[in-house]
Amino acid sequence: MPSTPKFAHVVFQTSQHEAMREWYCSLLNAHVVYEGHGLTFITFDDEHHRIALAHIPDLEPRPKNASLVNHVAYTFDSLDELLDRYVELKAKGIEPWRPVQHGVTTSLYYEDPDGNHVEMQVDNFATADEATAYMEGEEYDNDPIGVRYRPELMVEALRSGVPAAQLQTRQWAKETSPELPHPMAD
Ligand SMILES: [Fe+2]
Repeated sequence: MPSTPKFAHVVFQTSQHEAMREWYCSLLNAHVVYEGHGLTFITFDDEHHRIALAHIPDLEPRPKNASLVNHVAYTFDSLDELLDRYVELKAKGIEPWRPVQHGVTTSLYYEDPDGNHVEMQVDNFATADEATAYMEGEEYDNDPIGVRYRPELMVEALRSGVPAAQLQTRQWAKETSPELPHPMAD
C-alpha cells in the first residue's frame, strides 16, 4: 500500500509580517514558535508549525486576475466553537469577509492583511459519507456554492436554544436572510 502523507503547513511570503503574525495568531488562537532571519513560524496544535511567514520587503500586490490559492480552510468540531471564535474575533475588530452556508459546511470566510482568504468552518454532517451523499443530491447539484447568512443571527438563535442541526442548513439561512445576495454575486 502506498503511504499517505498528512497536511502539514502553509507558507506565505509577505511584506507585512507583524500584521500577518498578529492576525493569524488571533484567527487561529495560535502562537509564535520561532521568529528570526526573516521567518516566523506559528502553530496552534501539536504540529511544530502550521503557518510560516517569509518576510520579503516591497512585494507587489497581486493583480485581480492572478492565478492563486483561493483559500485555506480550518474545521471546528462544533457550531458552538465556530461561533465562539466568530464572537471573539469580532470583539478584536476581525469580521468575516463573507459568511456562506454551503449546505455541506457552515463557513465564515476571513480576509488576512495581505488579502488571502481563510475559511473557518464546521461540517454540517456527522460523517464524510453523509456529506458526500448531500453533495450528490439535488440541492447541491442546483448550486454547489450555497447562500449567505448572518452569523450574528445564528449566535442569537443558538444561544436561545435552537438546535445546531436546524441552523446548519441552507433553509435556515434563506428563511432568516432572504435579502442577502448570492455569495458569488460580487
Ligand atoms: Fe473551502
